[in-house]
Amino acid sequence: MRRRSLLAMGAAGGAAAVLGTGASALASPAAAGLAVRPSANPGTSPTSLRALAAKIGLRFGTALIPQDIETPAWAAIAASQFSVVTPGNGMKWQIVEPTQGVYDWSQADQLVAFARANGQLVRGHTLLWHNQLPTWLTTGVANGTITNAQLKQLLHNHIQVEVSRYRGRIWQWDVANEFFLDANPSGIDPNNFWISHLGPDIIPQAFRWAHAADPGALLFYNDYNITGEDGTNAKSDAVYAWLKQMLSEGVPIMGVGSQGHLDTQYGFSPQLFQQDLERYASLGLKVAITEADVRTFVNNATDQVPTDHLAVFAQPYEFSGMLKAALAVPQVISFTIWGFTDADSWVPGTFAGEGYATIYDVNQQPKPAYYELQADLELGAFGAPRRVPTPMP
Ligand code: XIL
Repeated sequence: MRRRSLLAMGAAGGAAAVLGTGASALASPAAAGLAVRPSANPGTSPTSLRALAAKIGLRFGTALIPQDIETPAWAAIAASQFSVVTPGNGMKWQIVEPTQGVYDWSQADQLVAFARANGQLVRGHTLLWHNQLPTWLTTGVANGTITNAQLKQLLHNHIQVEVSRYRGRIWQWDVANEFFLDANPSGIDPNNFWISHLGPDIIPQAFRWAHAADPGALLFYNDYNITGEDGTNAKSDAVYAWLKQMLSEGVPIMGVGSQGHLDTQYGFSPQLFQQDLERYASLGLKVAITEADVRTFVNNATDQVPTDHLAVFAQPYEFSGMLKAALAVPQVISFTIWGFTDADSWVPGTFAGEGYATIYDVNQQPKPAYYELQADLELGAFGAPRRVPTPMP
Protein backbone atom coordinates (compact mmCIF):
# COMPACT_ATOMS: atom_id res chain seq x y z
CA MET A 1 0.00 0.00 0.00
CA ARG A 2 1.34 3.40 -0.92
CA ARG A 3 2.09 5.75 1.90
CA ARG A 4 2.97 9.33 1.36
CA SER A 5 3.67 12.05 3.81
CA LEU A 6 1.21 14.90 3.78
CA LEU A 7 2.45 17.98 2.09
CA ALA A 8 1.75 21.55 2.92
CA MET A 9 2.05 22.51 -0.72
CA GLY A 10 -0.70 24.62 -2.13
CA ALA A 11 -2.58 23.74 -5.25
CA ALA A 12 -1.91 27.06 -6.94
CA GLY A 13 0.04 25.92 -9.97
CA GLY A 14 0.91 28.97 -12.03
CA ALA A 15 1.14 27.07 -15.29
CA ALA A 16 -2.22 25.44 -14.67
CA ALA A 17 -3.85 28.77 -13.99
CA VAL A 18 -2.57 30.14 -17.28
CA LEU A 19 -3.19 27.13 -19.48
CA GLY A 20 -5.93 25.14 -17.84
CA THR A 21 -8.94 26.79 -19.36
CA GLY A 22 -7.53 28.19 -22.56
CA ALA A 23 -8.72 25.66 -25.10
CA SER A 24 -11.99 24.95 -23.34
CA ALA A 25 -12.77 28.63 -23.75
CA LEU A 26 -12.54 28.43 -27.54
CA ALA A 27 -16.05 29.42 -28.54
CA SER A 28 -15.72 28.56 -32.17
CA PRO A 29 -13.28 25.80 -33.08
CA ALA A 30 -14.15 26.22 -36.74
CA ALA A 31 -13.21 29.90 -36.60
CA ALA A 32 -9.96 28.88 -34.97
CA GLY A 33 -9.18 26.53 -37.81
CA LEU A 34 -9.67 23.44 -35.68
CA ALA A 35 -11.75 20.43 -36.45
CA VAL A 36 -15.00 20.04 -34.55
CA ARG A 37 -14.28 19.25 -30.94
CA PRO A 38 -14.38 17.78 -28.42
CA SER A 39 -14.88 14.17 -29.26
CA ALA A 40 -14.14 11.34 -26.92
CA ASN A 41 -15.93 8.77 -28.99
CA PRO A 42 -14.36 5.88 -30.79
CA GLY A 43 -13.36 6.41 -34.37
CA THR A 44 -10.55 8.24 -36.00
CA SER A 45 -10.80 11.76 -34.74
CA PRO A 46 -8.31 14.59 -35.11
CA THR A 47 -9.12 15.56 -31.53
CA SER A 48 -8.46 12.17 -29.97
CA LEU A 49 -5.74 12.16 -27.35
CA ARG A 50 -3.48 10.13 -29.61
CA ALA A 51 -3.99 12.40 -32.63
CA LEU A 52 -3.32 15.59 -30.70
CA ALA A 53 -0.29 14.09 -28.96
CA ALA A 54 1.09 12.89 -32.29
CA LYS A 55 1.29 16.49 -33.48
CA ILE A 56 3.79 17.26 -30.75
CA GLY A 57 5.86 14.10 -30.79
CA LEU A 58 4.28 12.47 -27.76
CA ARG A 59 2.79 9.01 -27.50
CA PHE A 60 -0.33 8.94 -25.34
CA GLY A 61 -0.91 5.59 -23.70
CA THR A 62 -2.92 3.36 -21.45
CA ALA A 63 -2.51 0.09 -19.64
CA LEU A 64 -4.82 -2.63 -20.92
CA ILE A 65 -6.10 -5.83 -19.37
CA PRO A 66 -7.83 -8.55 -21.41
CA GLN A 67 -11.36 -7.30 -20.83
CA ASP A 68 -10.45 -3.92 -22.35
CA ILE A 69 -9.52 -5.71 -25.55
CA GLU A 70 -12.34 -8.25 -25.48
CA THR A 71 -15.24 -5.83 -24.84
CA PRO A 72 -15.87 -4.19 -28.24
CA ALA A 73 -16.99 -0.78 -26.96
CA TRP A 74 -14.01 -0.61 -24.65
CA ALA A 75 -11.59 -1.76 -27.32
CA ALA A 76 -12.89 1.02 -29.56
CA ILE A 77 -11.85 3.61 -26.97
CA ALA A 78 -8.50 1.89 -26.42
CA ALA A 79 -7.82 1.88 -30.15
CA SER A 80 -8.96 5.39 -30.96
CA GLN A 81 -7.54 7.38 -28.05
CA PHE A 82 -4.13 5.82 -27.41
CA SER A 83 -0.94 5.33 -29.41
CA VAL A 84 1.04 3.21 -26.95
CA VAL A 85 -0.22 0.38 -24.73
CA THR A 86 1.14 -1.42 -21.68
CA PRO A 87 -0.08 -4.80 -20.45
CA GLY A 88 -1.50 -4.16 -16.98
CA ASN A 89 -0.44 -7.64 -15.91
CA GLY A 90 0.08 -9.74 -19.02
CA MET A 91 3.88 -9.65 -19.19
CA LYS A 92 4.57 -10.14 -15.48
CA TRP A 93 6.43 -13.30 -14.50
CA GLN A 94 3.47 -14.72 -12.54
CA ILE A 95 1.34 -14.57 -15.67
CA VAL A 96 3.83 -15.74 -18.29
CA GLU A 97 5.27 -18.68 -16.34
CA PRO A 98 2.62 -19.83 -13.83
CA THR A 99 4.24 -23.27 -13.58
CA GLN A 100 7.97 -23.63 -13.86
CA GLY A 101 8.88 -24.21 -17.48
CA VAL A 102 5.27 -23.90 -18.67
CA TYR A 103 4.70 -20.60 -20.42
CA ASP A 104 1.45 -18.77 -21.05
CA TRP A 105 1.91 -15.95 -23.52
CA SER A 106 -1.78 -15.54 -24.31
CA GLN A 107 -2.30 -12.16 -22.61
CA ALA A 108 0.97 -10.74 -23.87
CA ASP A 109 0.37 -11.97 -27.41
CA GLN A 110 -3.17 -10.58 -27.36
CA LEU A 111 -1.90 -7.14 -26.37
CA VAL A 112 0.92 -7.10 -28.91
CA ALA A 113 -1.52 -8.15 -31.67
CA PHE A 114 -4.00 -5.44 -30.61
CA ALA A 115 -1.25 -2.83 -30.71
CA ARG A 116 -0.15 -3.94 -34.13
CA ALA A 117 -3.70 -3.89 -35.49
CA ASN A 118 -4.20 -0.36 -34.20
CA GLY A 119 -0.88 1.24 -35.05
CA GLN A 120 0.23 1.40 -31.42
CA LEU A 121 3.61 0.91 -29.80
CA VAL A 122 4.09 -1.31 -26.75
CA ARG A 123 5.65 -0.66 -23.34
CA GLY A 124 6.79 -3.98 -21.93
CA HIS A 125 6.12 -4.24 -18.19
CA THR A 126 7.95 -5.53 -16.15
CA LEU A 127 10.93 -7.91 -15.90
CA LEU A 128 12.41 -7.44 -12.42
CA TRP A 129 9.95 -6.67 -9.63
CA HIS A 130 9.25 -8.06 -6.17
CA ASN A 131 5.49 -8.38 -6.79
CA GLN A 132 3.48 -10.78 -8.92
CA LEU A 133 6.19 -13.41 -9.00
CA PRO A 134 5.14 -17.03 -9.60
CA THR A 135 4.40 -18.98 -6.44
CA TRP A 136 6.73 -21.80 -7.51
CA LEU A 137 9.57 -19.27 -7.47
CA THR A 138 8.85 -17.55 -4.16
CA THR A 139 8.04 -20.84 -2.43
CA GLY A 140 11.16 -22.48 -3.77
CA VAL A 141 13.32 -19.64 -2.55
CA ALA A 142 11.60 -19.61 0.84
CA ASN A 143 12.02 -23.35 1.46
CA GLY A 144 15.55 -23.50 0.12
CA THR A 145 14.90 -25.72 -2.88
CA ILE A 146 15.94 -22.81 -5.10
CA THR A 147 19.40 -21.52 -4.13
CA ASN A 148 20.52 -17.96 -4.78
CA ALA A 149 22.71 -19.15 -7.64
CA GLN A 150 19.72 -20.91 -9.18
CA LEU A 151 17.54 -17.86 -8.61
CA LYS A 152 19.98 -15.75 -10.57
CA GLN A 153 20.02 -18.29 -13.38
CA LEU A 154 16.20 -18.43 -13.42
CA LEU A 155 16.01 -14.65 -13.67
CA HIS A 156 18.51 -14.58 -16.51
CA ASN A 157 16.48 -17.18 -18.34
CA HIS A 158 13.21 -15.34 -17.68
CA ILE A 159 14.55 -12.08 -19.09
CA GLN A 160 16.21 -13.76 -22.05
CA VAL A 161 13.12 -15.79 -23.00
CA GLU A 162 10.59 -12.98 -22.64
CA VAL A 163 12.61 -10.16 -24.18
CA SER A 164 13.70 -12.37 -27.10
CA ARG A 165 10.15 -13.49 -27.76
CA TYR A 166 9.04 -9.92 -28.38
CA ARG A 167 12.31 -8.65 -29.82
CA GLY A 168 11.69 -5.79 -32.23
CA ARG A 169 8.11 -5.34 -31.04
CA ILE A 170 8.65 -3.55 -27.73
CA TRP A 171 9.37 0.18 -27.76
CA GLN A 172 10.15 0.58 -24.06
CA TRP A 173 10.81 -2.15 -21.50
CA ASP A 174 10.34 -1.48 -17.79
CA VAL A 175 13.30 -3.65 -16.88
CA ALA A 176 13.39 -2.91 -13.15
CA ASN A 177 10.44 -1.74 -11.07
CA GLU A 178 10.09 -0.21 -7.59
CA PHE A 179 13.44 -0.82 -5.88
CA PHE A 180 13.69 2.33 -3.77
CA LEU A 181 12.57 2.93 -0.20
CA ASP A 182 9.80 5.33 0.73
CA ALA A 183 12.00 7.01 3.32
CA ASN A 184 14.18 10.04 3.90
CA PRO A 185 16.89 9.41 3.02
CA SER A 186 15.82 6.85 0.44
CA GLY A 187 17.94 4.24 -1.30
CA ILE A 188 17.66 0.74 -2.73
CA ASP A 189 15.57 -1.33 -0.31
CA PRO A 190 17.92 -3.91 1.28
CA ASN A 191 14.91 -6.07 2.16
CA ASN A 192 13.58 -6.20 -1.40
CA PHE A 193 13.19 -9.83 -2.49
CA TRP A 194 15.80 -9.52 -5.24
CA ILE A 195 18.25 -7.37 -3.31
CA SER A 196 18.18 -9.55 -0.19
CA HIS A 197 18.96 -12.66 -2.23
CA LEU A 198 21.19 -11.40 -5.01
CA GLY A 199 22.46 -7.97 -3.93
CA PRO A 200 22.08 -4.60 -5.70
CA ASP A 201 24.22 -5.62 -8.69
CA ILE A 202 21.29 -7.68 -9.92
CA ILE A 203 19.62 -4.50 -11.20
CA PRO A 204 22.37 -3.46 -13.66
CA GLN A 205 22.77 -7.13 -14.54
CA ALA A 206 19.10 -7.30 -15.55
CA PHE A 207 19.58 -4.31 -17.83
CA ARG A 208 22.56 -6.00 -19.51
CA TRP A 209 20.63 -9.22 -20.05
CA ALA A 210 17.65 -7.33 -21.49
CA HIS A 211 19.90 -5.30 -23.77
CA ALA A 212 21.56 -8.45 -25.09
CA ALA A 213 18.15 -9.96 -25.86
CA ASP A 214 16.77 -6.90 -27.67
CA PRO A 215 19.39 -4.24 -28.45
CA GLY A 216 16.71 -2.05 -30.07
CA ALA A 217 14.41 -1.68 -27.07
CA LEU A 218 14.57 1.36 -24.82
CA LEU A 219 15.30 0.05 -21.34
CA PHE A 220 13.67 1.87 -18.41
CA TYR A 221 13.93 2.05 -14.65
CA ASN A 222 10.37 2.57 -13.37
CA ASP A 223 9.15 3.67 -9.93
CA TYR A 224 6.49 5.66 -8.05
CA ASN A 225 6.89 8.83 -5.96
CA ILE A 226 10.07 9.75 -7.85
CA THR A 227 8.84 13.13 -9.09
CA GLY A 228 8.42 14.90 -5.78
CA GLU A 229 5.26 13.16 -4.59
CA ASP A 230 6.91 12.29 -1.26
CA GLY A 231 7.19 16.00 -0.43
CA THR A 232 10.85 15.85 0.55
CA ASN A 233 12.00 14.72 -2.90
CA ALA A 234 14.18 12.19 -1.05
CA LYS A 235 13.20 9.27 -3.28
CA SER A 236 13.86 11.26 -6.42
CA ASP A 237 17.26 12.32 -5.04
CA ALA A 238 18.19 8.70 -4.44
CA VAL A 239 17.00 7.47 -7.83
CA TYR A 240 18.75 10.36 -9.57
CA ALA A 241 22.06 9.61 -7.80
CA TRP A 242 21.74 5.90 -8.60
CA LEU A 243 20.95 6.51 -12.28
CA LYS A 244 23.95 8.80 -12.56
CA GLN A 245 26.15 6.11 -11.03
CA MET A 246 24.76 3.41 -13.31
CA LEU A 247 25.29 5.54 -16.40
CA SER A 248 28.88 6.27 -15.36
CA GLU A 249 29.41 2.49 -15.24
CA GLY A 250 28.04 2.07 -18.74
CA VAL A 251 24.87 0.22 -17.72
CA PRO A 252 22.40 0.23 -20.65
CA ILE A 253 19.68 2.25 -18.94
CA MET A 254 18.01 4.50 -21.48
CA GLY A 255 15.04 5.91 -19.67
CA VAL A 256 13.32 6.54 -16.40
CA GLY A 257 9.61 6.02 -15.86
CA SER A 258 7.71 8.01 -13.28
CA GLN A 259 4.56 6.02 -12.56
CA GLY A 260 2.44 9.01 -11.53
CA HIS A 261 0.04 7.34 -9.12
CA LEU A 262 -1.44 10.35 -7.33
CA ASP A 263 -4.08 10.70 -4.62
CA THR A 264 -6.01 13.90 -3.97
CA GLN A 265 -5.57 13.51 -0.20
CA TYR A 266 -1.85 14.30 -0.53
CA GLY A 267 -0.02 17.35 -1.78
CA PHE A 268 1.10 17.62 -5.38
CA SER A 269 3.47 20.12 -6.90
CA PRO A 270 3.45 20.27 -10.71
CA GLN A 271 6.55 22.46 -10.48
CA LEU A 272 8.54 19.87 -8.53
CA PHE A 273 7.19 17.16 -10.80
CA GLN A 274 8.57 19.06 -13.80
CA GLN A 275 11.90 19.82 -12.13
CA ASP A 276 12.44 16.16 -11.39
CA LEU A 277 11.59 15.17 -14.97
CA GLU A 278 14.10 17.78 -16.15
CA ARG A 279 16.74 16.47 -13.78
CA TYR A 280 16.40 12.92 -15.13
CA ALA A 281 16.47 14.23 -18.67
CA SER A 282 19.66 16.16 -17.89
CA LEU A 283 21.39 12.80 -17.44
CA GLY A 284 20.76 12.08 -21.11
CA LEU A 285 17.85 9.76 -20.39
CA LYS A 286 14.49 9.53 -22.06
CA VAL A 287 11.62 10.06 -19.65
CA ALA A 288 8.11 8.60 -19.56
CA ILE A 289 5.05 8.96 -17.39
CA THR A 290 4.12 5.31 -17.18
CA GLU A 291 1.12 4.69 -14.91
CA ALA A 292 -0.70 7.96 -14.30
CA ASP A 293 -3.89 7.92 -12.28
CA VAL A 294 -5.36 10.19 -9.62
CA ARG A 295 -7.46 8.48 -6.98
CA THR A 296 -9.76 9.92 -4.35
CA PHE A 297 -12.28 8.72 -1.77
CA VAL A 298 -15.58 7.58 -3.25
CA ASN A 299 -19.07 6.53 -2.12
CA ASN A 300 -18.63 2.92 -3.25
CA ALA A 301 -16.54 0.87 -5.66
CA THR A 302 -19.39 0.45 -8.14
CA ASP A 303 -20.41 4.06 -8.76
CA GLN A 304 -17.19 5.75 -7.66
CA VAL A 305 -18.71 9.15 -6.91
CA PRO A 306 -16.18 11.28 -4.98
CA THR A 307 -17.25 11.91 -1.40
CA ASP A 308 -15.60 15.35 -1.38
CA HIS A 309 -17.04 17.43 -4.21
CA LEU A 310 -13.80 19.40 -4.50
CA ALA A 311 -12.09 16.19 -5.55
CA VAL A 312 -13.94 16.50 -8.84
CA PHE A 313 -11.77 19.58 -9.46
CA ALA A 314 -8.57 18.31 -7.85
CA GLN A 315 -8.56 15.12 -9.90
CA PRO A 316 -8.37 16.72 -13.36
CA TYR A 317 -6.05 19.42 -12.00
CA GLU A 318 -3.50 16.82 -10.96
CA PHE A 319 -3.79 14.91 -14.23
CA SER A 320 -3.32 18.14 -16.12
CA GLY A 321 -0.39 19.17 -13.92
CA MET A 322 1.41 15.95 -14.76
CA LEU A 323 0.74 16.30 -18.48
CA LYS A 324 1.77 19.96 -18.68
CA ALA A 325 4.98 19.16 -16.81
CA ALA A 326 5.61 16.35 -19.28
CA LEU A 327 4.92 18.61 -22.25
CA ALA A 328 7.44 21.12 -20.92
CA VAL A 329 10.25 18.54 -21.03
CA PRO A 330 11.14 17.50 -24.58
CA GLN A 331 12.78 14.26 -23.43
CA VAL A 332 9.40 12.93 -22.25
CA ILE A 333 8.41 10.53 -25.02
CA SER A 334 5.20 9.04 -23.67
CA PHE A 335 2.42 9.73 -21.19
CA THR A 336 0.57 6.59 -20.13
CA ILE A 337 -2.43 6.31 -17.84
CA TRP A 338 -2.92 3.14 -15.77
CA GLY A 339 -6.18 2.01 -17.32
CA PHE A 340 -8.59 4.35 -19.08
CA THR A 341 -11.88 3.54 -17.32
CA ASP A 342 -12.89 3.54 -13.68
CA ALA A 343 -14.86 0.38 -14.48
CA ASP A 344 -11.74 -1.77 -14.29
CA SER A 345 -9.15 0.42 -12.57
CA TRP A 346 -6.87 -1.32 -10.06
CA VAL A 347 -7.58 1.39 -7.48
CA PRO A 348 -10.80 0.23 -5.76
CA GLY A 349 -9.34 -3.22 -5.26
CA THR A 350 -6.07 -1.91 -3.85
CA PHE A 351 -6.84 1.26 -1.89
CA ALA A 352 -9.77 0.81 0.49
CA GLY A 353 -12.52 3.37 -0.11
CA GLU A 354 -10.83 5.00 -3.11
CA GLY A 355 -11.57 5.16 -6.82
CA TYR A 356 -12.46 7.70 -9.56
CA ALA A 357 -8.80 7.41 -10.62
CA THR A 358 -8.97 7.36 -14.43
CA ILE A 359 -10.29 9.65 -17.18
CA TYR A 360 -13.50 7.73 -18.12
CA ASP A 361 -16.26 6.99 -15.62
CA VAL A 362 -17.68 3.57 -14.75
CA ASN A 363 -19.92 3.80 -17.83
CA GLN A 364 -17.03 4.69 -20.14
CA GLN A 365 -18.06 8.33 -20.44
CA PRO A 366 -15.21 10.84 -20.56
CA LYS A 367 -14.73 12.73 -17.30
CA PRO A 368 -13.49 16.30 -16.72
CA ALA A 369 -9.93 14.92 -16.62
CA TYR A 370 -10.34 13.65 -20.19
CA TYR A 371 -11.32 17.11 -21.43
CA GLU A 372 -8.57 18.75 -19.40
CA LEU A 373 -5.91 16.52 -20.97
CA GLN A 374 -7.44 17.03 -24.39
CA ALA A 375 -7.34 20.81 -23.89
CA ASP A 376 -3.69 20.68 -22.79
CA LEU A 377 -2.74 18.64 -25.84
CA GLU A 378 -4.74 20.91 -28.10
CA LEU A 379 -2.92 23.95 -26.75
CA GLY A 380 0.36 22.14 -27.15
CA ALA A 381 -0.47 21.14 -30.71
CA PHE A 382 -2.08 24.35 -31.94
CA GLY A 383 -1.21 27.04 -29.41
CA ALA A 384 -3.98 29.56 -28.86
CA PRO A 385 -4.67 30.55 -32.46
CA ARG A 386 -7.36 33.12 -31.76
CA ARG A 387 -5.00 35.24 -29.69
CA VAL A 388 -3.45 38.16 -31.58
CA PRO A 389 -0.92 40.66 -30.27
CA THR A 390 -2.56 43.70 -28.76
CA PRO A 391 -1.12 46.91 -30.27
CA MET A 392 0.68 49.15 -27.81
CA PRO A 393 -1.24 52.38 -27.14
C1 XIL B 1 -1.12 -3.54 -10.70
C2 XIL B 1 -2.25 -4.04 -11.59
O1 XIL B 1 -2.93 -2.94 -12.15
C3 XIL B 1 -3.20 -4.88 -10.79
O2 XIL B 1 -4.19 -5.47 -11.62
C4 XIL B 1 -2.43 -5.98 -10.06
O3 XIL B 1 -3.30 -6.69 -9.21
C5 XIL B 1 -1.30 -5.40 -9.24
O4 XIL B 1 -0.47 -4.60 -10.07
N1 XIL B 1 2.80 -0.39 -10.01
C6 XIL B 1 3.09 -1.16 -11.10
C7 XIL B 1 2.01 -1.94 -11.74
O5 XIL B 1 4.22 -1.12 -11.60
O6 XIL B 1 2.47 -3.14 -12.31
C8 XIL B 1 0.89 -2.23 -10.77
O7 XIL B 1 -0.18 -2.85 -11.49
C9 XIL B 1 0.43 -0.96 -10.11
C10 XIL B 1 1.56 -0.35 -9.32
